[in-house]
Amino acid sequence: MTRRSAASAPGKVILSGEHFVVHGSYSLAAAINKRVSVSIKQTAGKSRVVSDGLTSPLSSNDGSFRAVKTVATKILNIIPKSENVPLEISIVSEIPPGSGLGSSAAVSVATAAAMSSFFQLSLNNEDISEIAFHGEKAVHGNPSGIDNQACLRGGLILFRKNSATKSVRIEKPIKLLIVFSGKKRSTSRLIEKVARRRTEFPNYFQKLVSSASDLSLELVDSVESGDTHKIGSLFTIAQSELSWIGVSTNRLESLIDFVLSQHAVLGAKLTGAGGGGSIIAAIQEGSGDNVLNAILPRYHFSFVTEIPQEGLRWED
Ligand code: MEV
Repeated sequence: MTRRSAASAPGKVILSGEHFVVHGSYSLAAAINKRVSVSIKQTAGKSRVVSDGLTSPLSSNDGSFRAVKTVATKILNIIPKSENVPLEISIVSEIPPGSGLGSSAAVSVATAAAMSSFFQLSLNNEDISEIAFHGEKAVHGNPSGIDNQACLRGGLILFRKNSATKSVRIEKPIKLLIVFSGKKRSTSRLIEKVARRRTEFPNYFQKLVSSASDLSLELVDSVESGDTHKIGSLFTIAQSELSWIGVSTNRLESLIDFVLSQHAVLGAKLTGAGGGGSIIAAIQEGSGDNVLNAILPRYHFSFVTEIPQEGLRWED
């Protein structure tokens, strides 16, 4: 019988503190209702990664599927050589790459779990997160680790580097509108750009890091009490700070203006690295369909998500 395994993980959005989290602030992130699935089977020939009609040998360094290859290779390095068999690693993703919605973190987490289960390694969640983080670093350079934690744990998390990640309880379900600008972005370049901003204005930058922490904690209170108006206002404040550090763009600003001009939208901001990617907005209860109908003709990858509690799913 052919050996097989599979796992999936959700994408994520950052609600507050992106970029500042790399420099030590609190940041709030949530899982979304779009997932990436990874399945693994023993195969003939050379190990390979397959997705959407594309195939790349696991051993090739051609830049494709970098997160998956890094994570899979990490696991192959910890198993006994005698167990190393040729693998086909297949990816099915509901998240466009480069959209700022955590496709690389989700695929890293799902690959680590599927590989772990294929080789019966019984890794726990923290091991999976650590291995997935190598995939993130291969793609994003110097990430904070928030994305892999969000995709692994699901729900809403309050994250700070080098501290224990906390899950935030959501009393009243909130809905978020997510709109992909259509422009892909490179997180590593944006992280470097922000680091240069910090070198230019160290004192002011430090104040923004503290401010991002305060805003994240304020946002936790607003989410816990289900105050969507306050959530919207905090999104809009966060956007101005992200703009100041140079990660917003004209395209994102006009997308945010367009979204904010819709009745029932309470506040909006870019989410993730910026430079393109996606925006999120807080919307009035019960208004999801109307807002989406207005946005979808111009921005085809738009959706409304509640925050799903489920993170990593072991499919076997
Ligand atoms: C990307 O989702 C969030 C950033 O803060 C990078 C990171 O924290 O790894 C831009």
